[in-house]
Amino acid sequence: MDNKTLALKAIEAKKYSLPTYSNFHVGASLLTDEGRIYLGGNIETSSYSLTICAERTAVFKAISEGERKFKSIAVASDAPGFCPPCGACRQVLFDLCGDIDVVLINNKEEIKVLKLSELLPLAFSKKELI
Ligand code: THU
Repeated sequence: MDNKTLALKAIEAKKYSLPTYSNFHVGASLLTDEGRIYLGGNIETSSYSLTICAERTAVFKAISEGERKFKSIAVASDAPGFCPPCGACRQVLFDLCGDIDVVLINNKEEIKVLKLSELLPLAFSKKELI
């Protein structure tokens, strides 16, 4: 699957988001090695810090359905610029998906592709745990 198609899936995923308090809709689409796609939207609760980002929704859905190998994740919001994953999501993605491609799409449907390791250099990982 090409990056643009995956990014358009992230736009589609925004419609499942539930940003009750921020009204900032984010969608993510996670592509497995075998070509399956898991969508996620951000979900907010009245206890704000219990919010989950779109990226983690997608990755936890995939992991909990037995997926273990991933190629890339796309992220979309309604903001004019690119919406990069937050720090917490970078860590979770690195631990559970490895150094995948991160595909960002802005509201002009322009694409930017980065490796996760560019977004999280010198990442902490299970290798550090002794
Ligand atoms: N958010 C995401 O879902 N993904 C990101 O990459 C950045 C932020 C969400 C969290 C919260 O629901 C809203 O955007 C505003 O921060």
